[in-house]
Amino acid sequence: MAATTSVAASAAGLGEILSQSLQARLFPPHLEPVPELNELYELELAFYESQILNDEELIRNGAYFARVGEVLTRHFLMCSGEPVRLPQHSSSRLKSFFQTKQFKTGYATHGLFPYRGKFHPQMIKGLINVMGLKPGETVVDPMMGSGTVLIEACLMGVRSVGVDASPFCRFMGQAKIDALRVPLAPVRAAVKHSEPVFEYFRGLAGHPKPGSKTRFEDYVGDLFAADPQGEHPARRSPPKGGLPAGCEAPLVHSFLLLAYLDSAGYSERSTRRPPYEQFHAILERYLFVADKIQRILAGTESELGEAKSLEGDARSLPLDDSSVDGIIFSPPYSFAIDYLENDSFHLGFMGVDLSQLRQRMIGLRGRTLREKFDLYTADMDQVIAECARVLRTGRICTIVVGTNNNQLSKILDVPPEEVPGIDEVLTQLGDRHGLGLARKLSRQITGMANTMRNEFILMLQRA
Ligand SMILES: C[S@@+](CC[C@H](N)C(=O)[O-])C[C@H]1O[C@@H](n2cnc3c(N)ncnc32)[C@H](O)[C@@H]1O
Repeated sequence: MAATTSVAASAAGLGEILSQSLQARLFPPHLEPVPELNELYELELAFYESQILNDEELIRNGAYFARVGEVLTRHFLMCSGEPVRLPQHSSSRLKSFFQTKQFKTGYATHGLFPYRGKFHPQMIKGLINVMGLKPGETVVDPMMGSGTVLIEACLMGVRSVGVDASPFCRFMGQAKIDALRVPLAPVRAAVKHSEPVFEYFRGLAGHPKPGSKTRFEDYVGDLFAADPQGEHPARRSPPKGGLPAGCEAPLVHSFLLLAYLDSAGYSERSTRRPPYEQFHAILERYLFVADKIQRILAGTESELGEAKSLEGDARSLPLDDSSVDGIIFSPPYSFAIDYLENDSFHLGFMGVDLSQLRQRMIGLRGRTLREKFDLYTADMDQVIAECARVLRTGRICTIVVGTNNNQLSKILDVPPEEVPGIDEVLTQLGDRHGLGLARKLSRQITGMANTMRNEFILMLQRA
């Protein structure tokens, strides 16, 4: 190579190179990124956002900018202020965890129910933008889990459809979307009279079995740490009197029920706090969360995107051919997480037959690990074929997936360095169905107790 790089050798050249940050080189001066924009994939998505969105769109829907000229973005406003009301005894480690995540997760209604394997919400907002989705268009999540894509799309004015095999996910996703507009006066009354409300739901749900499980490794970490020394209160008598006025309205009822199931699931795992106290604390937090986002949205409610959450099967989507403008999903990597076991209390409450549901759950079918892997690949082939069928030409299907090559190497009996990661398997399936890889990004998984260190963002384009 010619010696053109020697510009760095002169003091002036060196000074000039060092005088400008990478961010200043990437973005025009009137765009101020959010704090904590510190991962490569985030910088990349932020860069694409700055190229694809105009200033007005960045203010309304940008994921990675705090300020455009003098105007604070809506994402910044949504995430500012107290991130989440943590119990007083929370560790400083947990408090700092939430503070550093302030612009990434936990804002709007995303934090309402701890769900393992949940998407990183800010990334979803960035992806919706980078996939070129605009308000009024439709995005689909065929495996919606806790509904992260639907909530983000709704906030951005994008229409969305979510499908999940689990009826509990359908309920949870819908309740979290509805929480963006749930009437708050009856919720305040329920917080005030939380004891009869708790008794009402306990009458419906039966008694949580205290301390029967003590394992809980979700990213919320210490907040839900089990304390086997905790005391469990005497049983209370069944419901009398019902709910405060307005709480029977479906949106409010679902909101309260979600808080109840959240607290009951927790009480089942831990005896740190008596179930009623747990319910009261969680309901107070839910009210805080809904109140905070509703203040930000005040006056713009009509701009929210319509969101539909359905119970169904990603292998046969209830959607017409070429009818959607984007797809985002994260398949279960169920060698790592047994979603049914995690949600067994809530599914039991809903009267779901777990053994039947297990047959529909991708990743859980099969006896040996090898059989599970083969069924998983065959199921994912069908899912990807469905995605290709419903997506419009030229549009993007984004799959976010982690891979654990050491585990796969044992299952497939191939050395770890030769094993095809799940990301590669899915890319090949995409190719087969006319979804070609347009861009692949990778990100580190930063949760507190994850077995997978990296995940991939595969952006596949419909030919
Ligand atoms: C990794 S989770 C998705 C989490 C989601 N991205 C979120 O933000 O909460 C995978 C989901 O796939 C669902 N699932 C498993 N088999 C399915 C099937 N056949 N059809 C639809 N959903 C299925 C599981 O219930 C689980 O919620």
